[in-house]
Amino acid sequence: MQQKKRILTGDRPTGPLHLGHYVGSVMNRVKLQYDYETFIIIADIQALTTNFEHPERLKQDVYNVLLDNLACGVDPNVSTIFIQSRVPQIAELTIIYSMLVSINVLTHNPTIKTEAKQYGFELRKPYGFLGYPISQAADITFCRAHLVPVGADQLPHIELTRKIVRRFNELYAPVLIEPEALISNVPRLIGLDGQAKMSKSLGNCIYLSDPPDVVAERINQAITDPARIRATDPGHPDICNVFSYQKAFNPNFVPELEENCKKGKIGCVACKKILISVINALLEPIRQRRSEYQKDLDSLNDILQTGIKRCQQEGEKTMELVRSAMKIDYLI
Ligand code: TRP
Repeated sequence: MQQKKRILTGDRPTGPLHLGHYVGSVMNRVKLQYDYETFIIIADIQALTTNFEHPERLKQDVYNVLLDNLACGVDPNVSTIFIQSRVPQIAELTIIYSMLVSINVLTHNPTIKTEAKQYGFELRKPYGFLGYPISQAADITFCRAHLVPVGADQLPHIELTRKIVRRFNELYAPVLIEPEALISNVPRLIGLDGQAKMSKSLGNCIYLSDPPDVVAERINQAITDPARIRATDPGHPDICNVFSYQKAFNPNFVPELEENCKKGKIGCVACKKILISVINALLEPIRQRRSEYQKDLDSLNDILQTGIKRCQQEGEKTMELVRSAMKIDYLI
């Protein structure tokens, strides 16, 4: 039997996961986990690059992210879930790769630029923050992954990973796998304020763990077509934030909604009502699975321990290949 190809993907534990994570990446990892050998990273060190003043918050968020993944249907019997800081080979690879990347390339990375603004790092970027795309390349390659399901904002990082792999393989020996990104159909979910991508730090999200009334409240507050005052005014779905959610979560109903909105036959309140019920229907089984797992904290710990052990073994295999390719395998 041919060996399955591998997926590596994951999230920063900076809070519970939201709908943007779901459509950007989690949905795909759940769908593909039986076809690929799947590794899911809880990237705590990457979270530290912006949250280093509050490391004490990481623990709660590591468990939130783990629970969210399991709640969404990541099956711990087939997928390997692990914590980045517990796989030292990732840190080793990061240092080795850092020789192969120029500071210029990092400074011009568009995702780094956007995030630097968001976190107030424009004038003074911590070295670890500027360099986290290199560490992300190590996250992806330590287990020799082929495919990386991510949101579109992650593309520059996957591109850098591919460059590092090509450079490494060319310079030393072709031992690393050049991964490909898999971008979802809804690569970038705009926040409820209609401004930027859905993000915890911008306070414009619906969390996967939000109860039904919170979902309703958040959607009811969402910005729609600003030019539309009365429900009977013709709407402009192409510029409406709520419509972009309909496209993401209620695709079958979209042609009808679009027509009715343009003709002023359905108002924003009614349109939001539909969206609320669609999103709550999506989240209901997720909420239920979450509460099941929450009852058994020991099993959560076991899932992480097993995942970490497996990754350390995979990481060591990769390190052996890397050391021998670089001829730094000194011991005999
Ligand atoms: N940068 C990703 C995010 O912000 C999280 C992440 C860390 C990741 N390491 C990764 C994603 C490796 C895919 C592959 O969500």
